Amino acid sequence: MFQTKHGNPIHFIIEGERGIGKSSLLFLVSNFASGRIKPLGGADLNFLVIPVELGNVASQLEIVRAIARQFKSELQRIQAKVEAAKSVWEFLSNWEVLGVRYHKQSEVVEPESVRDELADKMAEFCEKAEFDGIFIAIDEADAPSSEAGLGEFTKYFTERLSRIGCNNVVFGLAGLPVLLDRIRSSHPSAARIFNLLSLSPLAPDERKEVVRRGLSEANSKNDRKTSISDDGLDLLAELSEGYPHFIQQFSYCAFEADTDDDIDALDVVNGAYDKDGAIAQLGSKYFDDLYYGKISSERYRNILNSMADFGDQWLSRKQILNLSGESSTTVSNALNALKTRNILIADPTRQGFYRLPTRSFAAWINAVKSVEDRKGASDSYRLPLSKGDGD
Ligand SMILES: Nc1ncnc2c1ncn2[C@@H]1O[C@H](COP(=O)(O)OP(=O)(O)OP(=O)(O)O)[C@@H](O)[C@H]1O
Ligand SMILES: [Mg+2]
Repeated sequence: MFQTKHGNPIHFIIEGERGIGKSSLLFLVSNFASGRIKPLGGADLNFLVIPVELGNVASQLEIVRAIARQFKSELQRIQAKVEAAKSVWEFLSNWEVLGVRYHKQSEVVEPESVRDELADKMAEFCEKAEFDGIFIAIDEADAPSSEAGLGEFTKYFTERLSRIGCNNVVFGLAGLPVLLDRIRSSHPSAARIFNLLSLSPLAPDERKEVVRRGLSEANSKNDRKTSISDDGLDLLAELSEGYPHFIQQFSYCAFEADTDDDIDALDVVNGAYDKDGAIAQLGSKYFDDLYYGKISSERYRNILNSMADFGDQWLSRKQILNLSGESSTTVSNALNALKTRNILIADPTRQGFYRLPTRSFAAWINAVKSVEDRKGASDSYRLPLSKGDGD
């Protein structure tokens, strides 16, 4: 943002697995950009922030429309304050691209001209209004398919801006790791304009800090103060494996399970394992279908369990055989079945190497195992299994 303010926009992509914190980071940056939050030791910023939801738009024309609509509504919000916003807002209000009539003809309209018009209006705004620039924040940018042309759009749009001398518009995209491929397959050199920021799980100390801050926030609001023991904190850090969404869920459930205002390891285990506890919650949101729905054999699950210790690393068939202790036939059948159902990924460059699709899936399986070990299998968390499919 600081660079963009000074005429050197660095467009960026925040990429990472589900629940790793992409939207949160984009939201925080948006708040820095608009000046609502001042970054520690950072500069005062005053950008016009345009948060864009693309949904599953199908064409560049629809991308232009989605951005223009949000641009218009942000301008409307500040119009009273900024005289310069008026003319741009009036243009957008009368722009056929945003009208219904245009929509019907959209198939025959070339996207280039409307893309350029939008770029020109943004440049006009940047020149006239007393803002540092414009920040276009696109969350879930992986939602549109590559045919929608987001890569091509950002490339030509930003090129147009710099050609007409506007260097204060910056794009920030957030999405799953497939986003970069989508951008690239939309236009081979579109990926080049972005700086890639890959989010990885939080380090152990950071995980504990998240829990401590959450508790102190709660204690500032509640009459009853809650503390947490070291073993409780350690276990939360371990079970979450650094996924912010996991930390939130395990902590929330431990807080619920606690009865004596001091969260210890047993509260964490109970919170994780209760009927509607953290493992069930995370499972039903992300993993149940993979782990239970698509597999009816305990043996196959055992194979996934043994692989989970290695996160999403590649493992050879032989390693899997040793780790799981299952027979050679079972392992062969399982690998085939799991691969077909997209529960395991086969290495396209080496025969006989497999891995779990994501590290968070591995982390969740590890949490299930760890809590199962602690609690004993007696009242273990089980979902109603879907109909068996022959394995
Ligand atoms: N750095 C962080 N510290 C603590 N909690 C965080 C952090 N980042 C994100 N969270 C929390 O983790 C959860 C998931 O975050 P968020 O929705 O931003 O992830 P995401 O990557 O956008 O997920 P999705 O792929 O599902 O869109 C939220 O509850 C959020 O508050
Ligand atoms: Mg998100």
